[in-house]
Amino acid sequence: EAHSTLSITVVGASGDLAKKKIFPALFALYYEDWLPENFVIFGYARTKLADEELRNMICTTLTCRIDKRENCEDKMEQFLKRCFYHSGEYSSEEHFVELDRKLKEKEVTCSLEPENGRTGYFTCRYLQIYSWKASSAKGWTRVIVEKPFGRDSESSAELTRCLKKYLTEEQIFRIDHYLGKELVENLSVLRFSNLVFEPLWSRNYIRNVQFIFSEDFGTEGRGGYFDNYGIIRDIMQNHLLQILALFAMETPVSLDAEDIRNEKVKVLRSMKPLELEDVIIGQYKGHNKGGRIYPGYTDDSTVPSNSITPTFAAAALFINNARWDGVPFLMKAGKALHRKRAEIRVQFRHVPGNLYKRNFGTDLDKATNELVLRVQPDEAIYLKINNKVPGLGMRLDRSDLNLLYRSRYPREIPDAYERLLLDAIAGERRLFIRSDELDAAWSLFTPLLKELEGKRIAPELYPYGSRGPVGAHYLAAKYNVRWGDLG
Ligand code: BG6
Repeated sequence: EAHSTLSITVVGASGDLAKKKIFPALFALYYEDWLPENFVIFGYARTKLADEELRNMICTTLTCRIDKRENCEDKMEQFLKRCFYHSGEYSSEEHFVELDRKLKEKEVTCSLEPENGRTGYFTCRYLQIYSWKASSAKGWTRVIVEKPFGRDSESSAELTRCLKKYLTEEQIFRIDHYLGKELVENLSVLRFSNLVFEPLWSRNYIRNVQFIFSEDFGTEGRGGYFDNYGIIRDIMQNHLLQILALFAMETPVSLDAEDIRNEKVKVLRSMKPLELEDVIIGQYKGHNKGGRIYPGYTDDSTVPSNSITPTFAAAALFINNARWDGVPFLMKAGKALHRKRAEIRVQFRHVPGNLYKRNFGTDLDKATNELVLRVQPDEAIYLKINNKVPGLGMRLDRSDLNLLYRSRYPREIPDAYERLLLDAIAGERRLFIRSDELDAAWSLFTPLLKELEGKRIAPELYPYGSRGPVGAHYLAAKYNVRWGDLG
């Protein structure tokens, strides 16, 4: 779709996400000449700010890429000149009408053409889009919405109903920023563009698959939001489940957004809702490490002292279809753990009648082939293979075929938000969540969340900076699995 001009509204412009991710991503797109020549960006939030104050606030987080061009400073200045601000309440139609008036003025003074496009960046709580939308009748409108998409099936369906009062499904771009990560995008290339993986991609060769997310910091400063959601809604139901769907889906008819999303929905609908016995939850507690005191989750002033909100969870999921019957898909997500890491680990079956069995002693798991996609940090894809240690004897060693991105592709990897914003502007829906996908995702987690919360099930405490609750090992062991990330 041609778009010679563009206006973008960032709702929630004074917030953390806008400052850390959205404005820097928009600048990066501008810096790399991905935005049309004529564009304006409007920030909208409750805080009262002058245009100049918004510019001062966001300029601290804009960066030029490593291959710095000399004109970096100029580019920043040019970019900031296109940024404006309007303050208003999120629930006020009147304030959005004012925003719209200002937008139109700017669209005229910046000679944005009538067939221009409008993109808005919203979080789902702010649904006053009708006035904003109505005005761009001549051009196209796209609305990017950020999670949380409700707290369960019902509240999510209600949000969808609200959005659809004003927008068609084609105009709604539900974001899950994990889908914009380089390695997650590559999953489909790896599977469908290599002969050596797809034939093995089934219960016949794969023993289990693990989706692991860990952060080495707690909810510092975000406790107010987090306590209402917890790690299952914050990470599992969206980021990890989306990756799982891409991992496990059948081959789509084509790379068109609808074909891909159809397959994702299918695989999600083939899964059985999570049961309590297949889940363990944890919460981090304060810890004194090397003389430094790390606060526990409930020490955060924005978190109630008796909170039982999980900051860690592990779960086993199953897909009831011919390809995956009986294969455990394990998920593990936690905050305040010993390191920051997101990865997919595929553990293959043992080699039947392995001639070298005795070289591995009694522990055949040490001979398991494992394919790892390290999503972050230090992006990599590596395959653990058994190899003969050079020498006269016969000693085997499990070694890595390693594709380390920073060695192979030294260019900096774009942030997920850059890809997603660019796609939304271009009208490409492949990496956004369709409403039926969202429904299917919630159906898997809603009964579990209700039971956990209804029964007030207490999380297992784990020290800040540790490897998480031991319960995660028992859960994996129940399915004969060892977490690959723990060696
Ligand atoms: C967000 C969660 O969606 O993802 C945060 O709300 C989490 O709790 C963040 O920290 C992690 O994203 P990234 O890109 O830093 O791994």
